[in-house]
Formats: sequence, structure tokens, C-alpha cells
Amino acid sequence: MNSGGHRYLHGHHDAVLRSHRRRTIETSAAYVIPRLQSDSDVLDAGCGPGSITVGFAAQVPNGSVIGIDSEPSVLDEARSLAEAEGRTNLTFEVGDIYRMGFEAERFDVVHVHNVLQHLDDPVAALGEMRRVCRKQGFVAARESDYGAMFWYPESEALAEWRALYRKVARSAGGEPDAGRHLAAWARSAGFSGVEASASCSCYATAEEKQWWGGLWAERIVQSRFAEQAAGGHLAATEDLERLAEGWQEWVTTPDACFFIPHAEVICTP
Ligand SMILES: C[S@@+](CC[C@H](N)C(=O)[O-])C[C@H]1O[C@@H](n2cnc3c(N)ncnc32)[C@H](O)[C@@H]1O
Repeated sequence: MNSGGHRYLHGHHDAVLRSHRRRTIETSAAYVIPRLQSDSDVLDAGCGPGSITVGFAAQVPNGSVIGIDSEPSVLDEARSLAEAEGRTNLTFEVGDIYRMGFEAERFDVVHVHNVLQHLDDPVAALGEMRRVCRKQGFVAARESDYGAMFWYPESEALAEWRALYRKVARSAGGEPDAGRHLAAWARSAGFSGVEASASCSCYATAEEKQWWGGLWAERIVQSRFAEQAAGGHLAATEDLERLAEGWQEWVTTPDACFFIPHAEVICTP
């Protein structure tokens, strides 16, 4: 089981955090918003730089929000963001999603976004989230699915990137096609009710494509992903450089677009 001490596949290189920082409660947890009460107590597990977590704090002005992450450095950024937005009902703590230091039934809402795909026992993590969720509350989870991503136009480099990504993620103990597994994982974790839905991100404007393609061109050669790919003999440095060029080329291709499907579940303890 990869605990809070494990090496998160992507690490926290700026090219990785640029991807996480762009997420908000509106882009990444819209399915949860109608279910929040102004006084809900919310936990955001594996909160990263906190850009979704601050959105929860805004939605529950009379409640409280705690974000936890196993990586202390990313929480410094999350705290700065909360301070800049003047959120006083929000705190961040270092913690391990497998063994959270909270009493049973501490929260009304327990949220997780794009974390389970990086864990080697997502069912155990969901079980721990169930433990800290009140019986009248819910656990909300959303995960992308690499195998289901699609793009235009066809690109050998992007197809190779996806195949490599899935190998590297699995070599690190994760499941890159997490989206399709999500409802089954939740049922295995013992929830009495699991309500599934889905949403899709789309990068189609010049700015969105430059952001998404540009950060992958950088991530593939510079982040911990690159170390894992090279260290696991899954790709040579020249291969990674070639794929980075492929991403740069895709960014400037007329009419290019990229779609990311996400599965979502609302789980009743
Ligand atoms: C892809 S990021 C997602 C961050 C945020 N939820 C978002 O969507 O922007 C995954 C985060 O999970 C954290 N993480 C990985 N394993 C963890 C564990 N066992 N316990 C707590 N956090 C963990 C990583 O440090 C990283 O910040």
C-alpha cells in the first residue's frame, strides 16, 4: 500500500502544480455544489495546492473545511491561497488518506479529486473516507480516465505518450484508467449507495491548448514522471524529448482539441 510516505508519481514540479492550480470547485467538483449546506463540515483529501478546497470554503461560510495532503510543501501554497482569498473557515494539515487522524463520523462531506488513481489501494482509501463521514453525509469522488481521453487530430506522439503514461502510472502502483473503476471501487469499499455521473473537460482555445500541451511538453522531460519513466527503463531520454516535441507540435496544429472524461460518484455511508 502506498502510504503518505510514498512518492506521488508526478511530484510537485511547477509544471505539475500549474495543472492542479487551474482546477476550481466549478470546473472539478460542480456535481457536489448543489448538495452542500452553508454549514457543512467538509474534508478535501489529497487537496494539493488547494484551488478546489478554497471553493468549498466559499460554499460553506457557516461550516468548516479541512484539506489534507501527504506533501507538506504543497500545503504552504494552499495556505497562501486561503489567506489571499480571506477564507477563515479553512485549514490544511499533513495527512495520509489511508490513516486519517480524525474521529469516526467527523465530516458531512468527504471529497477526493484525482487522487485515487495514484494509490495502490483505492478501495482502502475510500473505506477510510467512509469511516470519517457522518451517516447522513456523503463521500464525493471524481477521477479522470487516461484510456478514455481523446483528441484531434490523430497524433502518433500523443498516442505514444498515452501508452507510456499508462505504463509509468501502473509501474508506480496506480490505475490511470481510474474513472471506469470508480463506482466498483466505491461499492467494494462498502458504501450503501453509489450514484454515478460523468463530466468532460475540453481544451480547445489557443490559450487552453498552450497551457495543457505546454505543461505536458515540460512535465514529460522535467517532472518526477520523467525520472520514473527513465528509471523504470520504460522510455529513454530521447523518447521523452521526442514526445515533448510532439506535444509542442499538437499545440500549434489548426483545430486541435483535447477531451478528458471524468467519472464521479456520490457515495452514501
Ligand atoms: C493529482 S494531485 C490532486 C490534487 C487536488 N485534489 C486537485 O485535484 O487539484 C494528487 C495529490 O494527492 C496527494 N497524495 C498522494 N498520495 C496521498 C496520500 N496517501 N495521502 C494524502 N495525499 C496523497 C499528492 O501529494 C497530490 O498533491
